[in-house]
Amino acid sequence: MELELTLNGDDATLTVARSASLLDALRRAGYTGAKRGCDTGDCGFCTVLVDGDPVKSCVQPAVRTDGAAVETVEGLGSQDDLHPIQAAFVDNAALQCGFCIPGMIMRTKGLLDANPDPDEGEIRESLSGNLCRCTGYERILDAVDDAAGRLARTDDVAADGGRPVPERRSCAGPAPGGEQE
Ligand code: FES
Ligand code: FES
Repeated sequence: MELELTLNGDDATLTVARSASLLDALRRAGYTGAKRGCDTGDCGFCTVLVDGDPVKSCVQPAVRTDGAAVETVEGLGSQDDLHPIQAAFVDNAALQCGFCIPGMIMRTKGLLDANPDPDEGEIRESLSGNLCRCTGYERILDAVDDAAGRLARTDDVAADGGRPVPERRSCAGPAPGGEQE
């Protein structure tokens, strides 16, 4: 059967078996960002957004997403131009093997779209269905908090932790404190 949906903002038609999961449908169509871990809804590695809500795509029948808006990690940034959430995960060293990270990032996007300023308890609660075998979670929590800050700011951020980029001083301009360089 054919599935008509919006995939990362574009209209898409996916040909799927009636019994296929959304994860199957996405991966067969070349969207391999969502990972297959447990395939039983327990690990969260396959998390994508469906109409803005985080969904474990391995247990979501593809047919139920006909007409829906689906977002996968491929719809965020690119290698050279990371989305602020992706940059926050990198800059906080929130990943090791990285297998859980696409799901973590999409879960984070769903959280921050709905609640741009979550407290730690809300972050923990939101991520509670997404497992990570490597990191111990503390850095992931830091990354989500950092990502919220980055998304709330409108100024440029550096790639080393999201601090505002300092204004460039002219070579001929005065140094801090008024001394000439
Ligand atoms: S692969 Fe979907 S929850 Fe584990
Ligand atoms: S970084 Fe390896 S499972 Fe999370």
